[in-house]
Amino acid sequence: MKKYDIRKICCIGAGYVGGPTMAVFANYCPNIIINVVDINKKRIDDWNSINPLKLPIFEPGLDKLILRCRDKNLFFTTDLEKSISEADMIFISVNTPTKTKGIGAGKASDLKWVEASARQIAEFSKSHTIVVEKSTLPVKTAETIKNILSSSQDVNSKDKKTFSVLSNPEFLSEGNAINDLQNPDRVLIGGEDENSINALSNIYLNWVSEKKILKTNIWSSELSKLTANAFLAQRISSINSISALCEVTGADIKQVSKAIGMDTRIGQKFLTSGPGFGGSCFQKDILNLIYLCNYYKLDEVANYWKGVIEINNWQKERISRIIVSYLFGNVSNKRIAILGFAFKGNTNDTRQSPSISICKDLIEEGAHLAIYDPKVEHSRINEDLKEIQNPNFDYQNIGNWEICSSIKEAAFESDAIVVLTEWDEFLHINWQTLIKSMRKPSWVFDTRSCINHDMAKNVGFNVWEIGNSSSINKY
Ligand code: UDX
Ligand code: ADP
Repeated sequence: MKKYDIRKICCIGAGYVGGPTMAVFANYCPNIIINVVDINKKRIDDWNSINPLKLPIFEPGLDKLILRCRDKNLFFTTDLEKSISEADMIFISVNTPTKTKGIGAGKASDLKWVEASARQIAEFSKSHTIVVEKSTLPVKTAETIKNILSSSQDVNSKDKKTFSVLSNPEFLSEGNAINDLQNPDRVLIGGEDENSINALSNIYLNWVSEKKILKTNIWSSELSKLTANAFLAQRISSINSISALCEVTGADIKQVSKAIGMDTRIGQKFLTSGPGFGGSCFQKDILNLIYLCNYYKLDEVANYWKGVIEINNWQKERISRIIVSYLFGNVSNKRIAILGFAFKGNTNDTRQSPSISICKDLIEEGAHLAIYDPKVEHSRINEDLKEIQNPNFDYQNIGNWEICSSIKEAAFESDAIVVLTEWDEFLHINWQTLIKSMRKPSWVFDTRSCINHDMAKNVGFNVWEIGNSSSINKY
């Protein structure tokens, strides 16, 4: 049987998955040439930026890897045809958001970018090519890719194109992506062709031990990715549901999380209560799972997973209601400082961020928001909030927002501060200075349990903390 020697890789999609993943591959495989391609020229220009280096995504440790490998064995380009035609192995790392219209809208993933990539591979590739699914995809997508690729094989052509398709789902968590890629818990490779599986496995063996590389059939690999994300999201909805119970019973969610997490069967990770999970994967993957279950008439299973999303939405709405209710049931014409817009700390990604829906609720209630995030571009925040605007509201007269460049600027003359992302910077806030410029009574709502409550309370703030009713001290 033929062994595949991988000398050139092409990665389609230079986003949050493709960029960091290929930077780590390039770092550990100096003999492989890696071309990362994207249709978005601005993104590619940003990956190639020099002075100043202004990468399109913020990820701790990424800049060092880019500086080490870029233009040596790692290249960012818009030249799709050349990159595909030269590649022995092609990764598909394009976006797969939930469909917003048509069949399966709000449930199924939109696969138009995956399909476009498969068609481009079919058109430009030469000889044998290993195609690797990296994007989070619904189960059976590999079959679609295979069908598109095989329909391009012209039996009469001299050019003998052949393909094998692998599933190699990405488990990186944003903000910790480089570490996750360098020290993965496991690498999952699903496929049918042993030589192709080994070719990919050999790449990982440059830095991952063999016992962490799991080889499965393609459907198990695809389903494992959806299931892993569904389980992680389920833990967050579970702990968030208990946070509400803590607030009415006088228990403290941090103490409950610690107590249950010490049971080794439960474990301590992913038990931090917050404003609800965000990010590009959790909701999308659970929706995919639900869609799949409904398709196979497993309605009870679908309903079980639906509950995880329902609790997540409820948690976000609940927080908006709490803020309004503590501010005397009225936020109209009040200024509220929003600290954090990214869906979690250490990333500039805002996809499905709980901040978006909480801000929307408060704006619709008439508040004027002063939003600060240390890493999210101002234009991104504006776009996210414009996208979800309700056409029935006259935003000129109801509520609005402005983007600020510091905590101090956001807090100036505000009635309340709402902490929505757990940035390190928020742990070190000087509450004494802030309160001087704020209206009284001054509130802080900590939805991430990430600030110094004692200091805030001591200088006169009313503090509300998620899952901890005893934190409230009203002045
Ligand atoms: C997730 C998976 O962790 C990763 O394996 C997969 O490849 C992609 O999806 P990501 O979305 O980047 O990664 O971030 P993650 O750290 O999982 O956080 C997701 C959301 O859950 C964030 O909004 C985060 O704030 C929230 N979260 C996480 C909590 O509210 N509590 C926790 O204890 C952990
Ligand atoms: P992810 O989090 O999955 O990496 P992103 O949206 O950050 O998602 O990145 C996906 C990237 O894929 C985007 O930069 C987008 O422009 C790119 N892309 C989508 N379709 C194609 C395509 N057919 N060819 C090249 N790049 C594509």
